[in-house]
Amino acid sequence: MKILIVGSGGREHAIAWKVSQSEKADKIYCAPGNAGIAEYAECVDIGAMEFDKLAAFAKEHAIDLTIIGMDDPLVGGIVDVFEAEGLRVFGPRKNAAILEGSKAFSKDLMKKYNIPTAGYENFDDPEKALLYLKTAEMPIVLKADGLALGKGVLICNTHEEAEAGVKEIMMDKKFGSAGNQMVIEEFMTGREVSVLSFVDGNTIKIMTSAQDHKRAGDGDQGLNTGGMGTFSPSPFYTQEVDEFCRKYVYQATVDAMKAEGRTFKGIIFFGLMLTEKGPRVLEYNARFGDPETQVVLPRMKNDIVDVFEACVDGTLDQIELEFEDNAAVCVVLASDGYPVKYEKGFKIKGLENFKEKDGYYVFHAGSKFDADGNIVTNGGRVLGVTATGKDLKAARANAYQATEWIEFDNKYMRHDIGKAIDEA
Ligand code: AMP
Ligand code: GLY
Repeated sequence: MKILIVGSGGREHAIAWKVSQSEKADKIYCAPGNAGIAEYAECVDIGAMEFDKLAAFAKEHAIDLTIIGMDDPLVGGIVDVFEAEGLRVFGPRKNAAILEGSKAFSKDLMKKYNIPTAGYENFDDPEKALLYLKTAEMPIVLKADGLALGKGVLICNTHEEAEAGVKEIMMDKKFGSAGNQMVIEEFMTGREVSVLSFVDGNTIKIMTSAQDHKRAGDGDQGLNTGGMGTFSPSPFYTQEVDEFCRKYVYQATVDAMKAEGRTFKGIIFFGLMLTEKGPRVLEYNARFGDPETQVVLPRMKNDIVDVFEACVDGTLDQIELEFEDNAAVCVVLASDGYPVKYEKGFKIKGLENFKEKDGYYVFHAGSKFDADGNIVTNGGRVLGVTATGKDLKAARANAYQATEWIEFDNKYMRHDIGKAIDEA
C-alpha cells in the first residue's frame, strides 16, 4: 500500500514509524512532515490545510490510505474533501470532528446522553456570561468554544479573574473566532488520564492509558503547553475506572454521535478527570494525542495499518487491540522560552545515539534540514525522547538517560515527568 500521513509533529512521527513497521506499507509519504519523519517517509511540501492540493497529490500518486494526524484539518473538513474525490481516508468527517471543534457542542452532547462531565452553561453573549459569573462559585473554568492550540481554557480563582477572562475570550477575541461562544464550567479536582480509542462508526476499541504533563515547568508550574511529557500506562487508570468508562462513557459517546446523525470514524481521545465522585470527561479530541501517541504506539502490538483499515471499512469488531505488558515514558525536549518566545535554527547533535537501540525512540516535533543538510531546531517542542522499560520506573530512568544523548542550544525539559508514578 501507499500511505499518506498529514501533519508535521511528534505525533505524526510516531504514526509514521508505526506505519513503517507494517508489512502492508510499501511507500509512505508525509505532508508536510519534518526532518525525523523523513527517515520513514518521503516528505511532501504541501500544508495540512491545503485540502485540494493534498487530494490531488493522493490521486496522482495512487495513495491507498491517507491518515490525518492534526485537529485543524479534521475540524476544517479534510475528510469530506478526500471522500468526495473517492479517496480512502482515516479520520472523522467535519460533522463528527465537531466533537473536538466545539466545546459547547460536546458539552450539550454529554448532557443530552448522560455522559458524566462537569456542570456547565454555554454563552454566546458576553454580557450574559458576566451576569452569570456574579453569583457563580469560584474557582471556575472558562473555555473558548473552538480550537485554540490547547490554550483556550482559563481556570479562574476570583470573580475579577473570571470577568477579565470573559473579556479576553469573547470581547478581545484573544483566541479569534474560537471565542465566539464560551463554556463556563464547574471546577473539578483529580488526576487526569488520557485514553485514546479507535472507532469505526459503531465499534470502539480502547488503547492503553496515558498521562500528559501540560504545564511548562516542573511541579506543574507555568503556562499550559501542548504537552511536555507523557507516561503509559497510568497506574491510576484502575480496572474500576475502566469498567465505569466502558459502561457510561466510551460506547455511549459513539452511540450518541450516531444518534445525532454524526457517525464518528477515527480516533476519539477522552480527556478524563478522576474525581472523588468518579471519572468525568474533561474534553474530547478527534485525533491522536501529542505526546500521548509517542508512549502509546511503541507499546502497541497490532499492525496499525490493519486497525486503520478496519476503522475505514467498519470491521473494527474483528480486531483485538494488544499492548505490551511494559511501560513507556516520553520527555519533550523544547526550546527554552516555549510556549511564549523562543529561538530556532540550532543544530541538533546526538540523534545517531538512538540508532539500533531497542526500546529507545527520538520523535521529532519541530525539526528541519538547513541549507547544508544539518538537522536543526524548528519549533517550541523540538523532540520527544521516549523509552520503554519493564515498568514505569524503569522506563522513566531510561528516558531521562536518553535525554542526555541529545544536545542543542537552548535545550529545555521538565525534570519531573512521571513523578506521579511514585505516588501510585
Ligand atoms: P481541556 O482543553 O478542556 O482539556 O482543558 C485543559 C486543561 O484544563 C485540562 O487538562 C485540565 O487540566 C484543565 N481543566 C479543564 N476543565 C477543567 C475543569 N472542569 N476543572 C478543573 N480543571 C479543568
Ligand atoms: N497532549 C494533549 C493533546 O494532544 O491534546
